[in-house]
Amino acid sequence: MRKPLIAGNWKMFGRRADLAQIEAVAAFAANHSELDIALCPPFPLLAQASAIAGPVLIGAQDCAPGPDAAMTGDVNAAMLADIGASLVILGHSERRARHGESDDLIRAKTESALAAGLAPILCVGESLSQRQEGRAEAVVGAQIAAFADLAGELTIAYEPIWAIGAGATPALEDIAGMHAFIAEAAKGARLIYGGSVKPANAGEILALPKVEGVLVGGASLKAADFNAIIAAYRGEAS
Ligand code: PGA
Repeated sequence: MRKPLIAGNWKMFGRRADLAQIEAVAAFAANHSELDIALCPPFPLLAQASAIAGPVLIGAQDCAPGPDAAMTGDVNAAMLADIGASLVILGHSERRARHGESDDLIRAKTESALAAGLAPILCVGESLSQRQEGRAEAVVGAQIAAFADLAGELTIAYEPIWAIGAGATPALEDIAGMHAFIAEAAKGARLIYGGSVKPANAGEILALPKVEGVLVGGASLKAADFNAIIAAYRGEAS
């Protein structure tokens, strides 16, 4: 059976001094081999992070599609694999919204990640107005449609945009309902939930059917919080 994934997304936070947080997660992760545990720090920290990560998988937060090229400022999947990354987050709502990323571009990035041997975490999710209009499944279904043929190679993170960084999460039945919907639309994908996951709610979210892990933003920056989320999988205190 494949392992659930507890992944942390540091976003545009982190300095070299914060590598100590990764060491502390690595020490804790050594006793949790029933899980895939991953941290995704920003690009400048990736190489050092992968050198100290122990059992923790290191991921990037984005990659450019395609091979080496004259593309100023871009970093491709092969470069990430070369420095020891094994995962990459793609299609995060912050990139869709603020960098205008289309499903076509995210598909190209996903293909190049797979070609480089990286495991993609594809993020999908609806806005608050889309949910209020009853269109949450239609929106997520459209985001996933272009990836159905790759589903068996993907981790899909359901991240309702309105829950990200908000402190509030959807009702547990709404998380379970959307995961059941995605499981049908993307057969074989590993499904994880993201959006305001913290030590206090991780246990009940991880216990939901078809939830095979979590993608954690703010609460992944401090090892004490992230380790508590790892411990919540077993229903333990960290
Ligand atoms: P959050 O972010 O846990 O800070 O809400 C989650 C994410 O954007 O992946």
